[in-house]
Amino acid sequence: MTRIIFDRADRYIDPQNDTNILDAAKRMGIGISAVCGGKGLCGKCRVVVKTGREKLGPLSNLERLSLSDLEIISGYRLACLATPVAEGEIFVKIPPESSIEQQRLQVAGIETIVRVSPTVTKHVIEVPPPRAQESKSDAERLIAACSTLSGTREVKLGLNALTLVPTTLRRSGSITVTLYENSDTSEVTWIEETGNSDLTLGLAVDVGTTKLAAYLLNLQSGKTIAVASSLNPQISFGDDVISRISYTSRDAKNLRQLQGIVVAAINKLIHDLCDQTAIEASQISDVAVVGNTAMHHLLLGINPKSLGLSPYRPSVTSKVIVSSKEIGIRVNPGAYVYAFPIIGGFVGGDAVANILATQLHKLSAPALLIDIGTNTEVVLNDGSRLTSCSCASGPALEGGCIEHGMRAETGAIERVYIDPESREPGYTTIGGAPARGICGSGILDAVACMLKTGIVDSGGRIATTLSTPRIRVRNRIAEYVLAEAKDTAGGINITVTQKDVQSVQLAKAAIFAATSILMKQQGINSADLQQIFLAGAFGTYIDPQSALIVGLYPDIPLDRIRFVGNSAGSGARIALISREARSEAEQIAGNTEYVELAANRGFQDEFMRSLYLPHKNPEIFPTVRQILSRSRSY
Ligand code: FES
Repeated sequence: MTRIIFDRADRYIDPQNDTNILDAAKRMGIGISAVCGGKGLCGKCRVVVKTGREKLGPLSNLERLSLSDLEIISGYRLACLATPVAEGEIFVKIPPESSIEQQRLQVAGIETIVRVSPTVTKHVIEVPPPRAQESKSDAERLIAACSTLSGTREVKLGLNALTLVPTTLRRSGSITVTLYENSDTSEVTWIEETGNSDLTLGLAVDVGTTKLAAYLLNLQSGKTIAVASSLNPQISFGDDVISRISYTSRDAKNLRQLQGIVVAAINKLIHDLCDQTAIEASQISDVAVVGNTAMHHLLLGINPKSLGLSPYRPSVTSKVIVSSKEIGIRVNPGAYVYAFPIIGGFVGGDAVANILATQLHKLSAPALLIDIGTNTEVVLNDGSRLTSCSCASGPALEGGCIEHGMRAETGAIERVYIDPESREPGYTTIGGAPARGICGSGILDAVACMLKTGIVDSGGRIATTLSTPRIRVRNRIAEYVLAEAKDTAGGINITVTQKDVQSVQLAKAAIFAATSILMKQQGINSADLQQIFLAGAFGTYIDPQSALIVGLYPDIPLDRIRFVGNSAGSGARIALISREARSEAEQIAGNTEYVELAANRGFQDEFMRSLYLPHKNPEIFPTVRQILSRSRSY
């Protein structure tokens, strides 16, 4: 009997040894992507056989066409073509790009273990009643009772806590104080009768250009207990940060308006978190916030005008600690908001949080971190120091600016396959629903497949001379019909137009050129890179091979690509539960060099070369050359 053991600890026992890995996974209810329905044609069901390779039948020709030499050596197989031929155990790992069970919530991110040492703690203290012969005030007796809570440091009483002294102190001798401690101060921010609320809760918020993510944490255990997310309502004032900067620069009231709507949206998320957990917002005693530089300035009510003008400097780069009441975030009135420090220009606190969560700064071998969004931040660790830059990659990779583009929601085409002979497509949609449009991972897959099958050339032009009814010219624009009207939810053809291909080229060229500039500056080659961390919601769902084929990132073995999801949110959570992490974040921001691409002469040239698929110089993409020559010889 054969036992197929999957990496999530499920095991399938096959009495006849004739079930391939894909079927075994299906029977176990484990989702593996299978766009061609198990025919061995799409290559989307790649799995890694960790042990027991000799118990599977030999590699088929279709697998040799689909997998690179390195993947074959590393144990990759196509699940639909790998069938056990001998008894024993086979251990199978499902890489994230092949899994269809990934966390669809766009707020999930890497989990990094840190020692729990929050900035805010709660303590039960006894305050002796006033004595007739003593002249000490209530507040002085309270401070005296807190004297040992913060080592030898003097403890101050904040105004919010002070206003509660008359009502709380006289009612009960035993009270619970909320103590806020950072490197400069120890302050009692709140007092309450003991037993009122034993929980110490904190809120981490990631303010993205497109979305907001909020996490409620138990500061005693360090655990995340609820998550909520929404779109950033500032979107109606422009998809990108530049439109919002120019809007706020026009009139002072515009800045208040954008600040007001994002604060209101955060308050709505707090309300959702409270509903999920049956807690009161007033129980949240600490807040940590990350965001790119423009989002950071807008949230704090700082005019981001300077970011839109050469030399594109932020108004502040150090951490900002501000009362939650002052910016209108409705949590405990005594709570402070910790806004992450900024590296420079458009590389903000979210990049610092990404570095903190991935621990990029601690690696001794070269590694890259790419946080893909409308604005993409790139950080390179050359093995000893960090350099960073930011580029405008536009919304194409999130499904924006694409004729039939949509966000990664139910009905979005997320995986694409094109038959190399007939050039007929296959696709899967989120939730298996009829196709409504194409999301970021789908458009990237589509362009990669179109390149592999000769439907587009390396310049990105659609080959209208190819004889397939799927390619047509409409309103003088060439397009490839990915889903026919009869199969789609809206009853219209879903196509990839020439303009869509160009949008993908522009986005990937900006990201690759930004990456190249940092690598050249530090003298790092693709072969030196030991890891690439891909962050951001889009990064979580892409097929890493498709991204490589279009030339989104340097040509390195795919097993060195690590998807870290919303690691900016993870970094914010770490800073909420660890005081040391806040100091680390401040060191990271201070030690990371910022490279301004607008002032870099080589960027435009590299951008032009990177517009090609995968690059004007295909020599730097040996794996892609191999894949393309194999698929075109099919
Ligand atoms: S499902 Fe295995 S190659 Fe398509």
